[in-house]
Amino acid sequence: MLLCLLSERRPIIRRIKTNSMAKKLRFQKVTGMHDVFGQDIKYFDRVREIAQDMADFYNFKRIETPILEEAGLFERTTGESSDIVRKEMFSFKTKGGDYLALRPEATPCVGRAYLENGMFNLPSPLKLWYFGPYFRYEHPQSGRFRQFNQIGFEILGGSDAVLDAQIIQVTYNLLKEFKLKDITLDINSIGDSVCRPHYKRALVNFLKSRSSSLCPDCNRRLKENPLRVLDCKKESCIEVVEKAPQIIDYLCDACHGHFKEVLEFLDESEIQYNLNPYLVRGLDYYTRTVFEFYGEKDAEGKRQDALGGGGRYDSLIKSLGGKDTPAVGVALGVERIISLMKNVEVKFPLPLPPKIFIAQLGTLAKKKSLKIMEDMRKANIRVYESFGKDSLRSQLKIADKVGAEYALILGQREVLEKSVILRNMKTGRQDLVKLDSVVEETKKHLRQKE
Ligand code: HAM
Repeated sequence: MLLCLLSERRPIIRRIKTNSMAKKLRFQKVTGMHDVFGQDIKYFDRVREIAQDMADFYNFKRIETPILEEAGLFERTTGESSDIVRKEMFSFKTKGGDYLALRPEATPCVGRAYLENGMFNLPSPLKLWYFGPYFRYEHPQSGRFRQFNQIGFEILGGSDAVLDAQIIQVTYNLLKEFKLKDITLDINSIGDSVCRPHYKRALVNFLKSRSSSLCPDCNRRLKENPLRVLDCKKESCIEVVEKAPQIIDYLCDACHGHFKEVLEFLDESEIQYNLNPYLVRGLDYYTRTVFEFYGEKDAEGKRQDALGGGGRYDSLIKSLGGKDTPAVGVALGVERIISLMKNVEVKFPLPLPPKIFIAQLGTLAKKKSLKIMEDMRKANIRVYESFGKDSLRSQLKIADKVGAEYALILGQREVLEKSVILRNMKTGRQDLVKLDSVVEETKKHLRQKE
């Protein structure tokens, strides 16, 4: 999580960092992880609210899976040769000898939960969404953390191209709702187990003859997972890849037809896309459609890391022991979204002002105030207090500042006389009301005001 670190506006953390006190602190946060507080929490809550509304509209049901899973779940699905599993997984042996991992992504967890909880018996396709923390042991840098949050949408049990288009549409609409500018979408099809092997062969033949121009990582990828070479960001590899055969020319009729349909649906929804023949995504479970969304470019005009990505994963559920269950989904990085939201003016709904401010003077009054606060909560009346302050003047100042309609003023004398002063904050008028009927009296005054 982040968020202060993402933006230009990070005064609090910077101040603490340069503060000599920080040097003296025995414990500091773990590399790549962040405390979220203050204004950042507002962004966080807003993103979650908007995602919830979007999920409700499109009828996705919420799912929460555990943060710890068996590491083997990701090895089998995300893929042993993927960067996520090879380099980035926080995995460990427990005292009991289990081999576990902090979840680096959600899709395999959703697949496991789908099977384990018999969700395949529910009406199909099943639409699920999630919002929560994920962990990857990456080199921390702007927009790249070791703990980050994802919003995700998955549709399980449907192979129709309209579902691919719907996942893309939901994502696109969500990014629009976040008021992000210059959103772009890259899309490709990586075929399936019928046509991809033909393409792989052609690609390997091509790359082998140019292996001396490829980086050491790509030479390894060439043996383990050649499609990943297409994704390499190194200049020398990009130059080689630009002349490589393209998967689109190797798609079988079924995959070709599926991809064509997805694009037609997107055209119909007026969602613009770039056909990117080199987009393969770094996770093993994808079949057919893969896509990524990007936000505005950085100050140097360079494209920033993807805001979200996803695709079809028709064999994942089967690889976990289930029946053939085609599926498609997406995940978005919450911190990356918030970082861009900070560039646009996002309006947060203002919290409703309290109806009542409880002001107290003296220990006896403080004790009664706690009880009044509780009674007000049960009566659903919004209350504010400042129990830490003892001066009546400063308490009434706060009551004014927070926009309370009335102040209940309780001193030693009032408590002894079993009464309380109800002060209209606008007119200054004060009424004495009975302590044991303070909730009813307050309600009466509030009603009169309305
Ligand atoms: P992913 O591309 O690995 O896909 O991650 C999705 C998004 O999570 C990224 O586009 C990015 O915004 C965010 N993200 C990933 N790593 C980090 C990081 N270290 N720091 C900050 N943000 C990060 C998946 O996770 C797939 N499960 C998506 C999916 C769902 N495919 C099908 N269904």
